[in-house]
Amino acid sequence: RGADMTIKEEIEQLKKEKDAVILAHYYVRPEIQEIADYIGDSFYLSKVAVGLKEKTIVFCGVSFMGESAKILNPEKTVLMPDMAADCPMAHMASPETIEKVRAEYDDLAVVCYINSTAELKRHSDVCVTSANAVKIVKNLPNKNIFFIPDRNLAHYIAGLVPEKHFIYNEGFCIVHEYMEVEEIQDAKKAHPDAEVLAHPECPQAVLELADYIGSTTGIINYAGETDAQEMIICTESGVLYELEKRYPEKKFYFTETLPVCRNMKKVTLEKILHVLKTGENEVFVDDALREESKKPLERMLELAK
Ligand code: 13P
Ligand code: SF4
Repeated sequence: RGADMTIKEEIEQLKKEKDAVILAHYYVRPEIQEIADYIGDSFYLSKVAVGLKEKTIVFCGVSFMGESAKILNPEKTVLMPDMAADCPMAHMASPETIEKVRAEYDDLAVVCYINSTAELKRHSDVCVTSANAVKIVKNLPNKNIFFIPDRNLAHYIAGLVPEKHFIYNEGFCIVHEYMEVEEIQDAKKAHPDAEVLAHPECPQAVLELADYIGSTTGIINYAGETDAQEMIICTESGVLYELEKRYPEKKFYFTETLPVCRNMKKVTLEKILHVLKTGENEVFVDDALREESKKPLERMLELAK
């Protein structure tokens, strides 16, 4: 690196040389959101990944995100700054269980939260994200819904779509699952005028305290729409960067145990620079798996329109 060049400048230069674009989720470190070309929730990022003109996508997020981008754009090179940045929930279901439930129920749709491996997607009928799940599940023709992997999101959607029969799977997000009700109550006592905004990956006891429930983009947009000047944010703390950028006059609080997704934080500027330089950590999905896991993803993009 030239002594006069910062790491950000060097990334910027390599992006041009390599015809690369940087996508980032709201949960990654602030300095990465600062240099990203596109920042958003899982739904936005999956839409944006389709139709990019650049040859290479550097995906600053966890494995299932880079994998989905590759499945939807096989002709692109998708690079992950850290291959070990994986979402534990993405593995919390099994093809065997899916096939067992399929054998038990008629008129069934297997609905797969995008936080899942390609192998799980391959066995599913449609993907959803927290931003479009209610709309998609409502419009499915099937009466029975087997929702994988996240049971908290499944229960939340079931409450909003009572006409469907839900079968639940024992998966959860290790960050949202352990959000403490008591710590939220403490935050409410300390900030009595604050509204509570929560992600539907939180358990029901947390969602019961919420004034607003939605995806990360939903939470960020609501924070601007509400008259409230103070908010307790019940999702991963990376969203603070965008919240403060958009609403510098408002105040945002988290639980005392700061919700941090260690996997999202594995992405660093140094690692982005490294994969841009070397082309290492490219995402590969074999042809058969890609063709089969593409169907539920494309169905999501179609049904969410
Ligand atoms: P959204 O980006 O859809 O809100 O999902 C949150 C999440 O946990 C991503 O891993
Ligand atoms: Fe997975 Fe939760 Fe981290 Fe999102 S916040 S990547 S769901 S562990």
